[in-house]
Amino acid sequence: MRDERKIGMIQLSGLHKDFHVKEGAVAALRDINLSIAEKEFFVLLGPSGSGKSTLLRCIAGIEDPDGGTMSLGGRVMFSGKTGIRVPPEGRQLGMVFQSYAVWPHLSVYENVALPLRYGANRIDPKQLKERVMSALELVQLEKLAQRPVPFLSGGQQQRVALARALAIKPKVLLMDEPLSNLDARLREEVRQQIRTATREVGVTVVYVTHDREEALALADKMAVMHQGRIMQIGEPDEVYHQPVNPIVADFFGEMNWLDGNIAKPGVVSTALGDIATQSTATGSVKVGLRPSNINVTDVQHGAVNAFAGKVTDEIFLGEQLQFKIATASGISLDVRQAQRARHRWLGRQVWCHVDPQDVLVYPAVEVSSQMQAA
Ligand SMILES: Nc1ncnc2c1ncn2[C@@H]1O[C@H](COP(=O)(O)OP(=O)(O)OP(=O)(O)O)[C@@H](O)[C@H]1O
Ligand SMILES: [Mg+2]
Repeated sequence: MRDERKIGMIQLSGLHKDFHVKEGAVAALRDINLSIAEKEFFVLLGPSGSGKSTLLRCIAGIEDPDGGTMSLGGRVMFSGKTGIRVPPEGRQLGMVFQSYAVWPHLSVYENVALPLRYGANRIDPKQLKERVMSALELVQLEKLAQRPVPFLSGGQQQRVALARALAIKPKVLLMDEPLSNLDARLREEVRQQIRTATREVGVTVVYVTHDREEALALADKMAVMHQGRIMQIGEPDEVYHQPVNPIVADFFGEMNWLDGNIAKPGVVSTALGDIATQSTATGSVKVGLRPSNINVTDVQHGAVNAFAGKVTDEIFLGEQLQFKIATASGISLDVRQAQRARHRWLGRQVWCHVDPQDVLVYPAVEVSSQMQAA
């Protein structure tokens, strides 16, 4: 039976693209397969140069892939095989970029109204005012409608860009690092507004960022990209807690890596000692322990995955303390833990505990082949 929900609003298959530069070809996108459901808030996350913007631009039609297919709402927009290529204005998309791209000589109202007066998204002039004002209400700018945009803050200008993109009632809203020009506090505020406004209108969103916290906060689903490839697709908690490989695990922050060997199912022998794991892997492995998954206590809690050590460094980070712990086995562990009091731990003998479900284990052979492919 065909499950209708599985047929994505955006469907990408085998998409690839090279850029040809002086030094040779750069594989910006390699074999991209992706299905984004209707009304989903989908985030493309990855480091600089991983291909996020290129992928977004291919969806928009500003850039052409070298091959593969892309469809929107069941309609083919690009096909390398048949040569179909629908231009950007035929794709019913809204776009918001890093630079606000608002017209400085126009008011807030006129900025939002302009695409509705001319071109592919023109509407009946009688409906114009209502359409513009309801878009401004979505981003809470209705009271500033008559203000010239240069007299707005960066965050407000970006909300104008968002209102303008939503006013055309796009099938899909594409956003490329829309918050990166804003300071930290504004970033969180506008982030919240993006989430609320896009939910309210129920639009499908593809959102590009290199900021993992932003991605985790916004995404219904996300894809982690690395050197033109999608490494993992999943919900934020799934990608965070069960990264499919060390590249994805590393991307979500510092990790403690150990070489290990599994001779007996469920137990990895490492230089730190034997570590209990839920992994079913065998043989030579790489073991990852996330600093925030290591729990530090004064007394030992249970015998499983408890490692004695001494705190050799303590850094205050506000919400968390970061420790360096020299374990009895000679391995140094990085640990992060929510703690109020500073200066309580340095030099103390402690116990480090790790839940077996938080022990990340990757077969060493796969790791080295992934590193080569990357
Ligand atoms: N017009 C171009 N000409 C040549 N190479 C390009 C061009 N655009 C992108 N690239 C290359 O393609 C790769 C992917 O670039 P892309 O802009 O998609 O990365 P990104 O993930 O958006 O990075 P960032 O986070 O820095 O914006 C990079 O290696 C980049 O140098
Ligand atoms: Mg980019």
